Amino acid sequence: MFDFRIDADDKATMYRDLASALEGLVAGESDAIANMANASALIYETLPDVNWVGFYRNIDGELVLGPFQGRPACIRMTFDQGVCGAAAKSRQVQRVEDVNAFPGHIACDSASNSEIVVPLIRDGEVLGVLDIDSPKRARFTAEDEAGIVRLGEILSRVL
Ligand code: SME
Repeated sequence: MFDFRIDADDKATMYRDLASALEGLVAGESDAIANMANASALIYETLPDVNWVGFYRNIDGELVLGPFQGRPACIRMTFDQGVCGAAAKSRQVQRVEDVNAFPGHIACDSASNSEIVVPLIRDGEVLGVLDIDSPKRARFTAEDEAGIVRLGEILSRVL
């Protein structure tokens, strides 16, 4: 078991520590499932006010559920469905303050009120997305986005 204690008061330090813990966790491991499993657990136990952290993988142009922490979730989405599809299709981060106001949002857990989805891209290919949900409205700020994008960069190298 790995015991990472990341309890910095300020977000910048917290995300810096989280990124370095993630880098250590995936270092030297080439199995994508193992890396996604550990990454989802690390992020879920570190970030406050999140109720779902996980991955959808691009399998032949469809987003298929990967390792995650949280309640059981929808299994498959096209690039035209949901916040995850929007992130994969546009290759842009989707930071949604109120998921109920996002056209086409797929409610896997009715407790979720805000969400951030980061596309995972390597060599021009969309490998999948990292999806994080929160029960709090507008949980994710621009600072969270920068920190989570950094996590996505680390992960894109090892998926
Ligand atoms: N809300 C997502 C679906 C996945 S769950 O949040 C785990 C979406 O609209 O893409």
